Amino acid sequence: MYNFNELIERRGTSSLKWDTVKEGVIPLWVADMDFPVFPELQETLEKRAAHPFYGYRVSLDNKASFYDAIRLWYKTRHDLPVDSRAILSGPGTVLSLGMIVREFSAEGEGVLLLAPVYTPFFEVISENKRKVVEVFLEQDNHGRFILDISKIDDALDKAGIPVPLALFCSPHNPGGRVWTKEEIAAFLELTQRRNMVAAFDEIHGDLAYEKSGAGIFQHFVSAASLNEYSDRVIVVSGANKSFNLGGLHISHFVINDENLRATMQNALHRETHHEGDIFAEPAVETAYRLGAPWLDELRPYLYDNILAAVQFLNAEVRGIKAFIPDGTYLIWADVRGLIKQRGCGNVEELVFHLEEEAKVKITPGSIYGKAGEGYVRINAASPRELLMEGLKRIKDWAAGLPLMQTSPWPAAELLQ
Ligand SMILES: Cc1ncc(COP(=O)(O)O)c(C=O)c1O
Repeated sequence: MYNFNELIERRGTSSLKWDTVKEGVIPLWVADMDFPVFPELQETLEKRAAHPFYGYRVSLDNKASFYDAIRLWYKTRHDLPVDSRAILSGPGTVLSLGMIVREFSAEGEGVLLLAPVYTPFFEVISENKRKVVEVFLEQDNHGRFILDISKIDDALDKAGIPVPLALFCSPHNPGGRVWTKEEIAAFLELTQRRNMVAAFDEIHGDLAYEKSGAGIFQHFVSAASLNEYSDRVIVVSGANKSFNLGGLHISHFVINDENLRATMQNALHRETHHEGDIFAEPAVETAYRLGAPWLDELRPYLYDNILAAVQFLNAEVRGIKAFIPDGTYLIWADVRGLIKQRGCGNVEELVFHLEEEAKVKITPGSIYGKAGEGYVRINAASPRELLMEGLKRIKDWAAGLPLMQTSPWPAAELLQ
């Protein structure tokens, strides 16, 4: 019913994805989808915009139907009973993560993360003068990231500073892992044993693939469903990824524990006086109340895009090994062979040449920490034709001759 194949011009709309690349470049980078919202969501915003008053809105605290829409979404999509009172509205997810860091750790203390991981995880820690305690995720034979609890324990033992907080990306960006209940429980057992608060960023939670066919399929399990650990668990999520609403800057928390919730509520009042945005709130409510059929059609489309892309890259582009994610619309790929083949010094240089010469922009894995060097992340959430054209450009460029050393990046030790 919905047409995800249509190419719609996005340039000239202040789009981070499109308006920051040169004319002719296909952007397969930032996690933003090239699909328009479903019609009822657009109508909701048009209706609100048609009333020419954009003054302050009442606090979202007084908007029961908003919280109820989120509660219902958890119940119907994730079979998770959430008490509406456990839900708090917050600003964008990254701002919410920053608030968590300030609230549950002190300057000079450590915050644990598992790398590679979404770049702002590093930033919200270091910009708040905390220390990143980074543990590299292992990969299994399918290229899937796996947790090694003893390695995490070890890193915490050796940190040399208190580490009262962990940030956990679930599902995982950039690796696309959807963690099992057992993995989440093992992680929470560790954080509980060490008296740490565990904050879960679950913004990709609606995008776990359960369609049979290929790969390994894993139900999304919210950390909020593991009641035995709830006194130290904070979940941050939102409709931004599932419904492509990143520009609206709104998130929500699910915090089952009353004390933790009160702390977060105070922080929200103190730091943001968060009343909610007049456009964001109705958009999110509409997404959660009416968006299920759209998302149900989008997910198989995204998954078919992923399969087509991974198959193409692995079969056609020498020097790339791409992995099928369990969730998200992001593909993680090992490009160390290609870097070497084309004579690039490192992954940044490879990505630079791809943008300049092949006219396709993808994300260097190095922005997700040292663990991502030699890897790239490719966003598959575009009309299939555009996505495949972008990948074909990578293929054609990969088949070219080694480069002259013209790029601004020095050779790295990576390839030795
Ligand atoms: C794991 C993760 N968290 C947060 C965000 C951004 O969320 P927001 O736009 O609500 O700040 C992204 C965007 O890609 C993400 O991948």
